[in-house]
Amino acid sequence: MRVTINQIKEMKPKGEKITMLTAYDYATAKIIDEVGIPLILVGDSLGMVVLGYESTIPVTMEEMLHHTKAVVRGTKRALVIGDMPFMTYHISVDDALRNAARFIQEGGAQAIKLEGGVTVAEKVRSIVNCGIPVMGHIGLTPQSIHQFGGFKVQGKTPEAATKLLDDARALEEAGAFAIVLETVPAPLAALITQRTSIPTIGIGAGIGCDGQVQVINDILGSFTDFVPKHAKQYVKLADIIRNAVTEYHDEVKAGSFPTDQQSFSMDESILAELK
Ligand code: KIV
Repeated sequence: MRVTINQIKEMKPKGEKITMLTAYDYATAKIIDEVGIPLILVGDSLGMVVLGYESTIPVTMEEMLHHTKAVVRGTKRALVIGDMPFMTYHISVDDALRNAARFIQEGGAQAIKLEGGVTVAEKVRSIVNCGIPVMGHIGLTPQSIHQFGGFKVQGKTPEAATKLLDDARALEEAGAFAIVLETVPAPLAALITQRTSIPTIGIGAGIGCDGQVQVINDILGSFTDFVPKHAKQYVKLADIIRNAVTEYHDEVKAGSFPTDQQSFSMDESILAELK
């Protein structure tokens, strides 16, 4: 039985911290699910950490669905959330509904996430009314990176902080089940968390959020283009992979791989006949 949005919402009043991680493939999702992490986001960060784009903006529905299906196949318990790519929910409510439905119907996800607050509230309400759970995402929303002029902390001025509080309220009123707060000063994120009845999931938003989300490649140290300030590397996987690949390369060149252990034998008499 998969985790439900009601179980996630019930964690907030109990003060139980909520863990969420991104995943993009079957094998990684399976491990995260086995650990018992309740929320897995197939983030459009896929574009940067897996597909090598410079931002999340080029990511398409087809790419997201391809990876969502793999993550769903790897999980039994976690609630899988598909991240709506840039411009798949901006133009009209119809577009937003059609694309949200694809994540559920074709991708097998149980919820979707989209970026924005007041400006997307109408779309959130329509998607929720169709029975699709929605997670909001405010603060540093990477699909608006050109509008922000870079990866900058959001909500530092009184106007910007008030706007974030309004955005959180609009998402809550529209029926979102949780809100990601990205790259927001910790005291502001704590205030939004106090004033919101649905869980806040922080990334670069301090300890005062109801839960935390990280990009799996950041905490594993497998993405080496840059390390965001909000990420803690629990392991340096890129170094481990580099050492293993180098060793393999060296052994093949030296003729010491494969050994008998990785090879298959056959009946000597059959071989003799062939010769
Ligand atoms: O795409 C993503 O991985 C995200 C998380 C950083 C919240 O939106």
